Amino acid sequence: MSVDFDKYIEELQASIMEDVRRTYTEKVVEHWMHPRNLGRLKAPDGYGKVTGSCGDTMEIFLKVKADRIAEIRFLTDGCGTSIVCGSQITELVREKTVAEAGSITHTSVLDALGGLPEEDRHCALLASDTLKAALADYKRMKKDPWKKFYRVK
Ligand code: FES
Repeated sequence: MSVDFDKYIEELQASIMEDVRRTYTEKVVEHWMHPRNLGRLKAPDGYGKVTGSCGDTMEIFLKVKADRIAEIRFLTDGCGTSIVCGSQITELVREKTVAEAGSITHTSVLDALGGLPEEDRHCALLASDTLKAALADYKRMKKDPWKKFYRVK
């Protein structure tokens, strides 16, 4: 009984993965299974929180050193693709200057992932909008750096 059940689960997982691989690129699957930079940073230099048109929310936390993104983390309560896009955007942004990070768009995320199905593309927009919000916050915080210790819980 338990051997049959284990075999059933194994076959089900294999079938799900087959469907996923038919729909998404290897890069998407890789980020989905092993998301990078998931989590939060204490007292970030830049923080963004955006809720997208789908109702899902993403947060991005930045640490900036000598005008470069030294550390970045993200959180999302969204779909699997929002995790993929958050993970990908953190990889695109790390080590970039603040100005270079500002030029990253949802298209940059889509290109890096090798594309997403039409119905998932807004997830890349959520990631790029959240990055924009975090960078805008960083610019504001530069004027009042002490505020960063109080604004994110
Ligand atoms: S469906 Fe909301 S971010 Fe993907």
